[in-house]
Amino acid sequence: MMKRVITYGTFDLLHYGHINLLRRAKALGDYLVVALSSDEFNWKEKGKKCYFTYDQRKTLLESIRYVDLVIPETCWDQKARDVHEYHIDVFVIGDDWKGRFDFLKDEGVEVVYLPRTPEVSTTQIKNDLHQPR
Ligand code: CTP
Repeated sequence: MMKRVITYGTFDLLHYGHINLLRRAKALGDYLVVALSSDEFNWKEKGKKCYFTYDQRKTLLESIRYVDLVIPETCWDQKARDVHEYHIDVFVIGDDWKGRFDFLKDEGVEVVYLPRTPEVSTTQIKNDLHQPR
């Protein structure tokens, strides 16, 4: 049986921390779905303004070998529905979210928090590029 994995995120200004996450997520199964935060969800719910649009971020993700399907993330409570709709076996996300999505175990999926890659984030990149030198 094919093992299906899902992860969620913004993936703006794609960096090696993202690639590390996606590689390890794919290694947990055979098929990786990425639920990509929409521009509106990012702005209204996460207070993040993206540098790249949803379509640009989607195109980047779709060009990564570990990613099989990109779907939109538009609200916090879609996860319980998504895992059934996409026949998911494993939910995975970085450990900055540790414990936050344990409730998905009730939907019958395995929940995995992967250690973040140290010393890189989209916010950090934006801040560093702003520093005068
Ligand atoms: N991630 C990671 N290691 C990093 C950065 C991100 O493993 N150094 C993971 C996150 O834990 C998440 C996914 O990549 O599972 C997408 O994270 P996202 O929030 O889009 O990236 P960040 O770089 O953390 O963005 P921001 O600085 O805006 O929070």
